[in-house]
Amino acid sequence: MNYNKIAKGYNELHKEEQLEKLEIIKNHLEVKSTYRLLDIGAGTGISTNFFDCKVIGIEPSKEMLKQGKNIIQGYAEELQFKEKFDIIISVTAIHNFNNYKKAIQEIKRISKKKTQIAITILKKSKIFDETRKELHKNFKLKEYDHRLDLILIGTNI
Ligand SMILES: C[S@@+](CC[C@H](N)C(=O)[O-])C[C@H]1O[C@@H](n2cnc3c(N)ncnc32)[C@H](O)[C@@H]1O
Repeated sequence: MNYNKIAKGYNELHKEEQLEKLEIIKNHLEVKSTYRLLDIGAGTGISTNFFDCKVIGIEPSKEMLKQGKNIIQGYAEELQFKEKFDIIISVTAIHNFNNYKKAIQEIKRISKKKTQIAITILKKSKIFDETRKELHKNFKLKEYDHRLDLILIGTNI
């Protein structure tokens, strides 16, 4: 999928549904104003105004990220952070990653034991089963169903 091409119409098509997922995620997380939250594959930054804490997004598509706030260009497989985050989320993005296993290892690298994790997987994705399995192997997650996505929420360990 070329996200640069669909960036302009993205919010009109998907914002409402993505906000519903973020609402479920928020209801299952503990969010304090001092917490640092990373959104991987943040797109147009629907999440970056949504949480009452210090949110930063990473996103490869320039056309997507320029529509949002606090989003820097980057890839899930090579996160440009040394510090650890309190919360890491990724909404309907993992099926787009070039190497989801590497991305999961990157998430682990920048997680503390108690870092809260919320990742949604597009159910119709060809790699749905394998990403779901790999996520459960690496994190302690519970599942919540939402229309097109399965939402996994929990902690690193
Ligand atoms: C369906 S959009 C979801 C965007 C946003 N999370 C939302 O909920 O609206 C998927 C996003 O994943 C991004 N993406 C693709 N490959 C990526 C990668 N290797 N690392 C991080 N994000 C990636 C795309 O550019 C796109 O913005």
